[in-house]
Amino acid sequence: MLRTHARRLSNPKLTAENPAKWSAVRRVWLLRLCHRERSGKGGTNQAEKELTRNHLQWFIVAMKGFPPMNCLNDSFGRNAVQLLGVLFLVSLLTPRHFASGETIRFAGDSDLVGDNGRWTREVAEEWAKKTNNTVEYVSRPADATATLQLYLQYWGSKSADVDVYMVDVIWQGIAAPHAVDLKKYFKEEEIKQFFSHSVANNTVNGRLVSIPWFIDAGLLYYRTDLLEKYGYKAPPKTWEELAEMAKKIQEGERASGNPEFQGFVFQGKPSESLTCNVVEWIYSYGGGTVIDPHKKVTINNPDAIKALETAKSWVGTIAPKNVTTYGEEEARNIWQSGNAAFMRNWPYAYSLSADPKSPISGKFDVTVLPKGGDNGDNAACLGGWQLMVSGYSKVPNASVDLVRYLTSPEIQKKHAIELGLLPTLRALYSDPDLLGKIPWFKNAPDILINTVARPSTVTGGSYNQLSSGLFENVNKVLSGEESANDAVLQIERVAKRIVP
Ligand code: GLC
Repeated sequence: MLRTHARRLSNPKLTAENPAKWSAVRRVWLLRLCHRERSGKGGTNQAEKELTRNHLQWFIVAMKGFPPMNCLNDSFGRNAVQLLGVLFLVSLLTPRHFASGETIRFAGDSDLVGDNGRWTREVAEEWAKKTNNTVEYVSRPADATATLQLYLQYWGSKSADVDVYMVDVIWQGIAAPHAVDLKKYFKEEEIKQFFSHSVANNTVNGRLVSIPWFIDAGLLYYRTDLLEKYGYKAPPKTWEELAEMAKKIQEGERASGNPEFQGFVFQGKPSESLTCNVVEWIYSYGGGTVIDPHKKVTINNPDAIKALETAKSWVGTIAPKNVTTYGEEEARNIWQSGNAAFMRNWPYAYSLSADPKSPISGKFDVTVLPKGGDNGDNAACLGGWQLMVSGYSKVPNASVDLVRYLTSPEIQKKHAIELGLLPTLRALYSDPDLLGKIPWFKNAPDILINTVARPSTVTGGSYNQLSSGLFENVNKVLSGEESANDAVLQIERVAKRIVP
C-alpha cells in the first residue's frame, strides 16, 4: 500500500505547479471552500516529503530501539542488522496485506442516476481484480431519502450484508454509530490530503465516519440557444428575472408547436432533493438556514415565507404542476429531451446533457442559481457523497482498502473527468490536467463560493426528522395544500423539538 501511495504521490502529473490560467478566481473560491485552508499548491510534493521523512523517522526510531549488540563489531553481525533494517524498511513500503479472496458488498451509486451506478460498479470491479477480491455491487435507490430508509434497515439490524456504504454528506450523525472509525485505518497524512471542512463534517465525536468522495453543489442549467432566440443576453440574476424569462420562452415555444415545453424544472417531490431546493430558495432571499450554527431555529421569518411563496408561484405557471413529484432524474429527463428552458440540478447532469447524443448538446450552459431579489444572495446547496465502512462488516480491512482505492487521486481524477464530479482532494484542484477537463467548471467557478450547508451538523442523528418536516410541509405548499405561513410554523415546531 505504501509503495502504491508513494508512487501515486510522486506521479509527475499530480505534482502540479499552479497553472497561470487558474489564478485569481480559482484562488478566491478555493480559499472560501477550504475555509482558509492552505491551497493545494505544491501539496503533493510536500506530502511526498512528509511521507518519506516520517517513514525514515520510524525506521530510525525502530533501529534505536534495538538492544545494544556486541555483534555490531563483527561484519556478520553488521550485515545481519543491516539486512534486518532493510527488511523492516521494505515491510513499511510493501502493500499492506489482507486476505485476498474476500467478498465485499458495496452499496454504491445508483444505477438509476445517470451514469453514476455503471461507473462506480466498474471502478469497484477494477479494484477487485487488482486485489483478487470480489465486489458484489448493490445499487442504491435513486432517491436520497429512500436510500437512507434502506440503510437504516441494515444498520438497525446490525447487518453484515453490506460492508461499504456510499453515504450522503448530511447523514454523518445518523451513520456514526454504525461506522468503523476510519482514523484507525487512514494515516494522518492521508486524511490531510482531503479538504479539512469535509473531514470536519465527517468527524463525529472524534471518530472519522467516512472518507469524502465527491462534492456536489446546486447549479442553474439554462438553454443558451433559447435565451438568444428570445433576446436575452445573459442568464437570470434573480428568481424574478428567471420567472419572467421562463414565461416568455415557454409561451413562445408552446405557440410554435411544442405544447410539452416547460419554463423551469426542479426537484419538488417530498424528499431530500426538495430540502436542497428549499435551502437554496430561503437562503437566497436572506431567510437563513432553518437552524443556525448556534442551534437557533430561524425558519419562521418573512424572507423564508417570501421564498416559499415565490416557489409556489412557479408551479403550474412556469413549472409543470407535477413538479411536486419530481426528483433529479425526472427534471433531467424533461430538460435533456429539450423540453425546458431552465433546470436546477447537480453537476452530474452536465456530462449527460453535453453528450453528443443528447438533443441539447452544445445548446446549454450552467451558472450560479439566482438571488432572491436584487438584495438577495446566490446560494448553492452543498451536497456530496462519502464512503463509509460498516461497523458490522466481517471484512473491514479489505473494505477499507476499497474505500482507499475509490478515494485515491487517480480514481477521483477519473471521476471528475468522466462524470464531471468535484473531487475532495485538495491537490487535484491544482492539477492542470484536471482543471481543463471538469466540463462545467470553467463556466461556473463562483458556484463553490456560494455553497450553503443544510443544518445537519447541529441536528446530528435527528437530521432526517428535520428534513422530513421541511420537505413534507414545503411539498404541501407547492401543491397548494398549505400556506407558506403555516409551513414555516410547522417546520419551526419540528426544529424546536430537535434543538430545543
Ligand atoms: C445529491 C447531493 C446530496 C443530496 C441529494 C438530494 O445527490 O449530493 O447531498 O442530499 O442530491 O437528492
